[in-house]
Amino acid sequence: MLRAMNEANSDVWTGGLTNDLSQVLLSEAQIAARVGQLGRQLAADYVEKDPLLVGILSGSFPFIADLVRAMNLALEVDFMAVSSYGDRTSSSGVVRILKDLNTSIAGRHVIVVEDIVDTGLTLHYLYENLRTRQPASLKVCALLDKREARKREVEVDYVGFHCPNEFVVGYGLDYRGRYRNLPFIGVLRPEVYRKAE
Ligand code: IMP
Repeated sequence: MLRAMNEANSDVWTGGLTNDLSQVLLSEAQIAARVGQLGRQLAADYVEKDPLLVGILSGSFPFIADLVRAMNLALEVDFMAVSSYGDRTSSSGVVRILKDLNTSIAGRHVIVVEDIVDTGLTLHYLYENLRTRQPASLKVCALLDKREARKREVEVDYVGFHCPNEFVVGYGLDYRGRYRNLPFIGVLRPEVYRKAE
């Protein structure tokens, strides 16, 4: 465990927050390489389309920040914040918009940027909501895809990594608001959330 942490990062990240993790799933270097690839792929697919990237807060903030800096073309960024009712480690599918877009998306090429698609319930709701606003196109880019947990079939057009059916934190992903600042992604020990429930 300690060795994996050290491989993933400097020893700044051993101890403290990382004691709550059972393993490092994706190192900082692995994430950077894949996000760079995704950015270049999106840039190639959206030439002269002036895409609007919609980051879903809060989890997507490091991902979208790195992604847009790997996209060498004119684009815009906007954000939505949503909350899904459910217990702390699973989603109920009932979604509330806490912050809507600042921009109209009618006629725009929109790319929704999500941290993780788990049950698919949040994305399904968001997709249907955005679709009614008549964008020219609507695609989804998710850093992590937890396919096995899917309750609702949703199309994820650009996937960073497939994710095992475990609760993961870091690089924007949280548990009760914590761990978002880890530069890598790790698996949260179940004892941590079982203890709190
Ligand atoms: P879904 O509606 O079940 O697809 O879940 C969507 C949201 O739940 C994501 O955008 C995350 O904020 C959160 N989520 C789902 N799985 C995880 C996880 O493993 N770690 C942290 N957050 C998660």
